[in-house]
Amino acid sequence: MTDKTNKTIVLTGDRPTGRLHLGHYVGSIQNRVKLQNESDKAYYMVADVQALTDNADNPEKVRSNVLEIVLDNLACGVDPAKTTFFLQSQIPEIAELTVFFMNLVTVQQLSHNPTIKSEAKEKGFNLSSNRVFSADPLLASIISKPEDIFEQGIPLGFLAYPVSQAADILAFKANTVPVGIDQLPVLEQANKIANKFNAFYGEVFEKINHITSDVSRLVGTDGNAKMSKSLGNCIYLSDSYEQISKQVMSMYTDPNHLRVEGPGQVEGNVVFTYLDIFDPNKNEVEELKNQYRAGGLGDVVIKKRLIEVLESIIKPIRERREELTKDMIMVEKILEDGTNSARADASLVMGEVKTAMKINYFNK
Ligand code: TRP
Repeated sequence: MTDKTNKTIVLTGDRPTGRLHLGHYVGSIQNRVKLQNESDKAYYMVADVQALTDNADNPEKVRSNVLEIVLDNLACGVDPAKTTFFLQSQIPEIAELTVFFMNLVTVQQLSHNPTIKSEAKEKGFNLSSNRVFSADPLLASIISKPEDIFEQGIPLGFLAYPVSQAADILAFKANTVPVGIDQLPVLEQANKIANKFNAFYGEVFEKINHITSDVSRLVGTDGNAKMSKSLGNCIYLSDSYEQISKQVMSMYTDPNHLRVEGPGQVEGNVVFTYLDIFDPNKNEVEELKNQYRAGGLGDVVIKKRLIEVLESIIKPIRERREELTKDMIMVEKILEDGTNSARADASLVMGEVKTAMKINYFNK
């Protein structure tokens, strides 16, 4: 039953909660583009079901971003001739596999998962306690109203998203997953689930390997540890020259570098962090750093340089995106055709899963 063929099957995805930005680009999109040429099979999943785990009250937001992130990926060079694009909600096999996997993981494992812990904190979900926060009985009675339920706890679907992510990957027997480093604990959990499945029901799944990039986490334009839409510190792959300029001009530099003639600090200076990552001319960047440290180089000069560097990366992406936007029927068709083909693949794997689990009734 096992077919360990040493094939490289790549799968990755994004939650459709907003357009993609430079953090996505350096964190995983570049790897996707590269890997689609080096693998036997590549999938790109629009994770709309996962997006709903913390946006249950906002289906419109998720829906309206589905094609936006398809556009972002196409514009970056993820090629539908090499990569199967699909929409998670339209593959019921994933939901089915999630349910089977739920038996192979504990609530404790999930609530101790570092990714879940930090994302829950970001979103205001309280993991550790289901008690009301306020000591004031009047306030307590107010915030225990059912509509405020998320203030007291964590949605089960959100806590369990690593289980459904394991299903996203394993429903296609993918073994290679390009992701940002903050997703590594989720992949570790997926591997634990796969091991348990194999131990209980026989060898069906291979180990999942992650592929991370050199720049695994891009700082935001404000110097915050992470580029994130909610912090407003992003440069989007669809941004205009004016939007890029505005974000770069407001970038965090060295707060003590008040006069051009004075020495400036390069470490922690976001403009230099970005130049290090995006500027192809490393020697010139080193020279600029020396000048900046010695004094006599103004923030505006390095910012202007960065604007041009980023524009040269984003311009072709933005233009290709604009071109694609003219034929949204075609873009939707890419997702629809890909979803049909992905579903056929997942149903083959599910046949194997159900046979292994001895629930292959009625389909002899
Ligand atoms: N959790 C991922 C993110 O937030 C998105 C995702 C969903 C994913 N399913 C996946 C990534 C499967 C890789 C493989 O970025």
